[in-house]
Amino acid sequence: MTDAIDNTETLNRRTVLTAGAALLAAGTLGLPKMAHAADPFTLMKLPYGDKDLDPVISANTMGFHYGKHHKGYVDNLNKLTAGTPHADQSLKDIVKDTYGKSDKVAIYNNAAQIWNHDFYWHSMKPNGGGEPPAALKKLIDSSFENVEALKKEMITAATGQFGSGWAWLVAEGTTSAKLKVIKTSNADTPFTSGLRPLLVIDVWEHAYYLDYQNRRADHVTAVVNKLLNWEYALTNLSQPA
Ligand SMILES: [Fe+2]
Repeated sequence: MTDAIDNTETLNRRTVLTAGAALLAAGTLGLPKMAHAADPFTLMKLPYGDKDLDPVISANTMGFHYGKHHKGYVDNLNKLTAGTPHADQSLKDIVKDTYGKSDKVAIYNNAAQIWNHDFYWHSMKPNGGGEPPAALKKLIDSSFENVEALKKEMITAATGQFGSGWAWLVAEGTTSAKLKVIKTSNADTPFTSGLRPLLVIDVWEHAYYLDYQNRRADHVTAVVNKLLNWEYALTNLSQPA
């Protein structure tokens, strides 16, 4: 027993001495530190807790959608752009520069999906839906007749998007903006067409399948009526396309 203690103490002393010698040598010889550069693209922080959109979007769906799918796009883009000029660009610039280029499809898809998802999480809030702020409501009334008509158009677009994609409320024009509802497929995003995105609904199956299975219409109706963040749309009205 005593031997064992003695051996351990000896080993510890030897380990400390060895480590100290190595550190001294490294300092003396000016060896490089083993630091890694930070990845340029990071997973955004959610503006609410993972249970805060329940029951429309459960914590389980949030965990997979944000923690696996959204994070996956970020990880992929960091790998795809490492050591390239894209690593120093903004997401928006990458999307614009790679749009329609057959040799940059993977970079485009992952960058656009990060941008779209960042926008998507902000497009919702706990206890959303309801009445838009007056300045936005005025524009909605002139573009769609009334808020109910816009909601119906968003639900129809989101439900009718064939396959994976997105349903957007966008603004076109720079002075007296007109609002429109559009759909995009896969990773496509409105700003490559010069439109200003105001709100978005994700209709990839990963956005709703765990909670709603094939009932996409029920999911998007609940998002429109209970989660849409009208204040975010108003903020985006003043942003450039
Ligand atoms: Fe998604």
